[in-house]
Amino acid sequence: MEIVVLPSLDEAAELAATRLVRRAELRPGLVLGLATGSSPLPLYRALQRRVEQGLDLSGAQGFALDEYVGLPPGDPRSYAATIDREVTRPLRLDPARVHVPHGAAQDLEQAAEDFERAIADAGGVDVQLLGIGTQGHLGFNEPGSSLGSRTRLKTLTRQTREDNARFFASVEDVPRHCLTQGLGTILDARALVLFAAGPGKAAAVAAALEGPVSSSCPASVLQLHRFATVYLDEAAASGLARAEFYADTFAHQPAWQRERAF
Ligand code: F6R
Repeated sequence: MEIVVLPSLDEAAELAATRLVRRAELRPGLVLGLATGSSPLPLYRALQRRVEQGLDLSGAQGFALDEYVGLPPGDPRSYAATIDREVTRPLRLDPARVHVPHGAAQDLEQAAEDFERAIADAGGVDVQLLGIGTQGHLGFNEPGSSLGSRTRLKTLTRQTREDNARFFASVEDVPRHCLTQGLGTILDARALVLFAAGPGKAAAVAAALEGPVSSSCPASVLQLHRFATVYLDEAAASGLARAEFYADTFAHQPAWQRERAF
């Protein structure tokens, strides 16, 4: 695992965008796993600047991590609408190649299966972008989620609903259920890239990166992946016991390794 601590996520996003563009140039049909929320926004903006300068991502595909259940199709707070607004349009992706679990489906089990099949049909996710919840969730896999889980219906914790209430009139309006890629689905991606910022994430980040691999902290599954990169600002990294070592590793990373990383 590569852990990169920088003063701000804007700086981290520039580095991650440079690495991602190199990968997209090597593989024009790049399959991206897309996270919503605040953490990946600096990366999306950094990629948007490159698209405005001529980067062509129209051959890429996107798969969202999750979607609320119970919002009407087209609701601006849905993740389908959010991905369209924050990612598909600014990055000029082909909307037909961007997929979000169908949280308004009548048959949610079928919708989850269809989503898994669509990922498989695309040849799997190349780079999965991630944020982390204050209780360590990954996607909407809340503490207690099976480490081998696939896309399915999940119940959101009160904490997650409170964290996401900023997008709704009140916490009571935040849906209780979601469809989310499972931890097993996420682990199948060829590379994982997680962003976290702010002191509110410090405890979850420390548990995920330095604690035991456990369903009590779903993001700890990052430790099982061969190619996981974590970008943190200093506040999010403040609970890490080995912070000095990560800084030293990054400062002296061989050029060939930095080139290959995400
Ligand atoms: C979003 C998602 C969540 C968020 C996490 C962090 O699609 O699956 O796991 O990544 O809740 O959210 P932010 O980035 O808003 O702090």
